[in-house]
Amino acid sequence: MLEDFLSEKLSEIKDAGLLRRLRLISSSPAANVTIGGKKFINFSSNNYLDLAGNKEINAAVCEAAEKYGFGGTSSRLIGGNLAIHEELEKALAEFKSSEAALLLPSGYQVNVGTISALAASDKSACIIMDKLNHASIWDGAKLSGARVFVYEHCDMDSFEDVLKRAKEYKLKLAITESLFSMDGDFVPLQDFARLCQKYDAVSIVDEAHSTGVFGKEGRGLAEHFGVSDKIDIIIGTLSKAFATQGGFVCAKQSVIDYLVNKSRAFIYTTAVSPAICAAALKALEIIKKSDDKRAVLLNNAKYLKNKLDSLGFKTGKSLAGECRSQIVPVITESLENTEKVSAALLKNGVFAPAIRFPTVPKGLARIRISLTAGHAKEDIEKAITAVNN
Ligand SMILES: Cc1ncc(COP(=O)(O)O)c(C=O)c1O
Repeated sequence: MLEDFLSEKLSEIKDAGLLRRLRLISSSPAANVTIGGKKFINFSSNNYLDLAGNKEINAAVCEAAEKYGFGGTSSRLIGGNLAIHEELEKALAEFKSSEAALLLPSGYQVNVGTISALAASDKSACIIMDKLNHASIWDGAKLSGARVFVYEHCDMDSFEDVLKRAKEYKLKLAITESLFSMDGDFVPLQDFARLCQKYDAVSIVDEAHSTGVFGKEGRGLAEHFGVSDKIDIIIGTLSKAFATQGGFVCAKQSVIDYLVNKSRAFIYTTAVSPAICAAALKALEIIKKSDDKRAVLLNNAKYLKNKLDSLGFKTGKSLAGECRSQIVPVITESLENTEKVSAALLKNGVFAPAIRFPTVPKGLARIRISLTAGHAKEDIEKAITAVNN
């Protein structure tokens, strides 16, 4: 019965050309990977500062595992709250110029837990969000049961219209990513913060892809645009530039106290492994000193985007003034075209994933080229040649 049901559902997905399959990588997920015994240049990871496999981080993991063991063993509120959790939270709060921080096992859980807890606090709460926000933000919004208002992607006029429409709600939670994960484009954060203030909305910014890459010492785009003190809640992940695992939310102590009591994604899960906390602390130390890596990464991104643009590819808006993003989409639109480009890339030793609906809107399938500081100029040239093949 279940088998029949699932096989029908899977056939539907397959017929639509949207079947997902896991691809086995037999090496570490660094700038070069081995798939099926063959080497590829890897443009699929969020290892932006090339910290995956970093020896100092590995040593910190081993040391912490010796001291605490590897597992979290209990939820934070039961018996799992270790000194190293609080040390990491303190360091993350300082990094984001925030009063306090709370650590969870993943960025996904942070978004789901934070948004659902805050918006479910009162029936007079609503959520206002960018149409292209990450699935975890959408899931948190859905779980809250609160009214959700959606505005056009990165469009501050549309945002203001929605803020006006949502006027009667006592608690308005306005949520955006700062750097969008599938488009590599930026929200005008100064305008976002100003409009939140004007309409008395709580500003929540997900800095999953910008932390480590932008701002002084990699503090993120809120810092870069000088609005750190105007954003109420910053969300981040330790799984991208940090190349470790986990997510965090930074805010006033009262928000964190509330989440400790109400975020089910925090309460009902085991504490993050102490060894992972040690890895994140070491990664943070390295990230702050990584200006040279950020410069290499963003120069490579500019070069790649300009080159692809000049060849006539659609790469979106991953350049904004002085900001250029390490995520460069090649928008191939149809599934057939995307498959064609994807196959050409693999044939030429380049691994960059095809991204399709529902991760991106229908008709806007793409190849997502995600750069890291570990890519050499020749790697970028190879990617350009392969896309252009
Ligand atoms: C914008 C955004 N927020 C949150 C997440 C989730 O973070 P994590 O991978 O730590 O669960 C992601 C990752 O895919 C993301 O792109």
